[in-house]
Amino acid sequence: MSRPSRRHVCSACGASFLKWAGRCQSCGEWNSLVAEDAPSPGPKGYGSFEPPGAGGPLSLPEVGSEGARPLASGVPELDRVLGGGFVAGSVTLLGGEPGIGKSTLVLQAATSFALAGARSLVVAAEESAEQVRRRAERLGALPAECFLFSTGDLLAALGAADRVRPALLVIDSIQALSDGSLSSPAGSPTQVRECAQLLAQYAKATRTATVLVGHVTKDGSLAGPRALEHLVDTVLSFEGDRHHALRALVATKHRYGAAGEIGLFEMGESGLASLEDPSTLLLADRRPGAPGSSAFPALEGRRPLMVELQALLAPARGQPPRRVVQGASASRVAILLAVLERFWHDETGAHDLFLSSVGGIKVSEPAADLPLALAIASSLSGHSLPEDVVAFGEVGLGGELRQASRPERRLTEAWRLGFGRAVAPLATPDGPPGMRLERVATLRDALALFELQPPAKEAPRRRLEALA
Ligand code: TYD
Ligand code: MG
Repeated sequence: MSRPSRRHVCSACGASFLKWAGRCQSCGEWNSLVAEDAPSPGPKGYGSFEPPGAGGPLSLPEVGSEGARPLASGVPELDRVLGGGFVAGSVTLLGGEPGIGKSTLVLQAATSFALAGARSLVVAAEESAEQVRRRAERLGALPAECFLFSTGDLLAALGAADRVRPALLVIDSIQALSDGSLSSPAGSPTQVRECAQLLAQYAKATRTATVLVGHVTKDGSLAGPRALEHLVDTVLSFEGDRHHALRALVATKHRYGAAGEIGLFEMGESGLASLEDPSTLLLADRRPGAPGSSAFPALEGRRPLMVELQALLAPARGQPPRRVVQGASASRVAILLAVLERFWHDETGAHDLFLSSVGGIKVSEPAADLPLALAIASSLSGHSLPEDVVAFGEVGLGGELRQASRPERRLTEAWRLGFGRAVAPLATPDGPPGMRLERVATLRDALALFELQPPAKEAPRRRLEALA
């Protein structure tokens, strides 16, 4: 038999909380929380889970929609990803590797939010208030409505939020915050989950838009064993190459709008600048005529984005051959190597392979297959692709090309950037007038179009040397 769990119920308003606090977060009454056993789940328990003041069921049109209207953060690319801004009472988790710019992004959101007249509070759990102020100076904004509080203690943070009553509350970071009543250290899964749970409760009860910053572990998952993802309304991931100025913000979960939308920034001397025209920046350093390079009109969310893909193949120095893939799916690349080996050159997979999406943009779409395969074949054959060509299309295991989503958007973006020619699957509709569209049925046809020949085999010479 499992023991009933304890909870804390406010004797004034009836709201219940997992943790005891000096003040009820729902009605503001002091010393009103009393411990009691939570009801065991079952038919009898249902009623008592209803939040205080909640009425009965409503018919759909009777349900208000006011609360779901987003408040713009004032950072254009962040608002694009959020579908307008932060929703009151919502909890957003912002994940990313250390040093990528999470603190900078949330501080920019907090200051521009405050500049627009709404109050914001940044709880700095990793830095002193002075450090944060210095960063704000660098960003060029010190609005009076933006509050800072430096603490690693959860209850102190909640107390500060209660005093300031911000419309936007930022916790930087959730891993550095701890609840003193728990024995586990800050950053442990129990602490992270417990703190996030209480902050989520606070956000809902006070209708405060809340952002939790979270560090990502090396394997790319959010530390605190992904336990937070189901607890929050929105999960944002901040990505990019720390040594490159470009940063991408992606919503992997979003209860208030479309997930998958991408926001792009450039990290500069005074913070993150929203990039309205990222394709131009992504192509800025492209060297025409270099073998192993292809241009891919990607579609991230609703936004077309021109990405340069680069491949470098070299004779393998050991067994098994090395595979270094950055910004693309390693398993898709393995499939492409197998298909190229079957239909083009049977020693493709025997080479060391280095592949990257320039600028650190992750391409996860299957439509990247064709440009990836072209880049690989171009590197191995030593022939470059024409400079004004883009390619997209999924490659099947039989070497056939399959349709990509939204081909018109891709063609239009390519044309806008000066690409005059596109290679795409058979069913692709016409692009902008004047653009040359090469429709191909198979990967082999696409390779033939650019006369990409497999390198001459060296094996016979080696055999002769052995004989000598
Ligand atoms: P930060 O926001 O502290 O990253 P995180 O919170 O994700 O760990 O930013 C880290 C880097 O950004 C740091 O190396 C300095 C750089 N940076 C700039 O280049 N320009 C700026 O205006 C700011 C504030 C930071
Ligand atoms: Mg930080």
